[in-house]
Amino acid sequence: MKALVLAGGAGTRLRPITHTSAKQLVPVANTPILFYGLGQLRDAGITDVGIIVGDTAAEIESAVGDGSALGITATYIQQEQPLGLAHAVLTAADFLGDDDFAMFLGDNLIEGGIGHLVEAFNRDRPSAQLLLKQVPDPQRFGVAVLGDDGRIERLVEKPKDPPSDLALVGVYLFTPAILDAARRIEPSWRGELEITDAIQRLLDDGATVRASTVDGWWLDTGKKDELLEANRIVLGGLTGRVDGEVDDASEVIGAVVVEPGARLLGSRVRGPAVIGADTVLEDAYVGPFTSIGAGCHLTRTEIEYSVVMAGCEVADIPRIEGSLLGREVTIRPTDRRPAAYKFLLGDHSQVEI
Ligand code: DAU
Repeated sequence: MKALVLAGGAGTRLRPITHTSAKQLVPVANTPILFYGLGQLRDAGITDVGIIVGDTAAEIESAVGDGSALGITATYIQQEQPLGLAHAVLTAADFLGDDDFAMFLGDNLIEGGIGHLVEAFNRDRPSAQLLLKQVPDPQRFGVAVLGDDGRIERLVEKPKDPPSDLALVGVYLFTPAILDAARRIEPSWRGELEITDAIQRLLDDGATVRASTVDGWWLDTGKKDELLEANRIVLGGLTGRVDGEVDDASEVIGAVVVEPGARLLGSRVRGPAVIGADTVLEDAYVGPFTSIGAGCHLTRTEIEYSVVMAGCEVADIPRIEGSLLGREVTIRPTDRRPAAYKFLLGDHSQVEI
C-alpha cells in the first residue's frame, strides 16, 4: 500500500502566516503538523509516500527532504493549481499505479494513528474506507448520512444545511477504483474536484464504502483557535526533558521540554510547554500549553496558551495569551515619542489590545 499526502493548496484561513509559508508546516508542539501524519503512516507500515505540493513546494521539500529522517520515502508530485482533493488524486495517478493507497490531508491531526484503519481495510478491501467524527459545525466539512444499518447512504461537501453532524475526517483508504470515479465528476460550486463527490460516485456505482468513527480527537488545523487547541492537546501528552540550560534563578514546573542550546535565565516555565533550541528566556514566564520555537528571545514577558514560531523577539510585554506569532516577529516597547502603538503587520493580521 502507498500513501498520498496532500500538502498543496492555499492556506487562506491561517493568513497572514500562510501568505508566505505552507500551512502544513505550522508547528504544533514545535513539530510541523505534516510530520504527525507522516509518522502515523510510517507506524502503520506505509512508507512509500507521494506528497502533493503546490506553490509552497520548495518549503515542503526542504522540511521533509527524502523522508528518511521520518522513516519514509518521499516522492514529490507537483499540482499546478489547487483544483481539489480529487484533482490531487488524478495528478498522482502515475505514482499510485494500480496500488491501494491511504490519503492523508496534510493539515489534519488525529489521535492514536491509523493502524486499526489500515488493518480493517486490508481485511475486507472495500473500495473506500472513511473516518467520521461528530462535529458541532458540519457545514465546514464533507458530511456523511448513514442509513439505519449504519451504512453510508450519501455524502455531501460543505452543505449549507447539513443533513447530519458526521464530518469526513481527512484520512481515507482507497483501492484504485477512486481514480476512475474521480475522472467521472464535475467541479463543485467552489470550482474544485471534490473527493467527496468521487466517493459518492463510488456509492452510486454500488461499490462498498465503509466508515468508522474516530473515538479520539481530530483537528483540522485550518484556523488559529484550532491550531492553539491542537497545540494544547498534543502538549497534554508531553514528557518533560531538559537538554538546555536552566540557571539557578529559573524554575521548570511540570512537563517541560527545553531543547538543546535553549537557556532559561531567571525565568519560570510551567508546563506543559516546549522551549525551542537556542531560545533564550530572560526574566520571563511561559505558562501552560505554550510552544516557543527555535532561536527566540523572550525578555521580561509573560506568555501562555500560545504558539510562537522560530526567531521571534518579544520584550517587556506583561501578558500574552491565545496568540500565534509567525516567524521572526518582533514585539517590544519603544522609548521614542510619541508613545503610541506602532505596527508593521502583514495582510489579514489581527491585533487585540
Ligand atoms: O479536514 C477534513 C475536510 O477536508 C473534509 O471534511 C472535506 O470533506 C474535504 O473536502 C477537506 O476540506 P477542506 O476544505 O478543509 O480541504 P482543504 O482545502 O483545506 O485541503 C485539505 C488539504 O489538502 C490541505 O493540506 C491542502 C491540500 N490540498 C487542497 C486542495 C484543494 C491540495 O494539496 N491540493 C488541492 O487542490
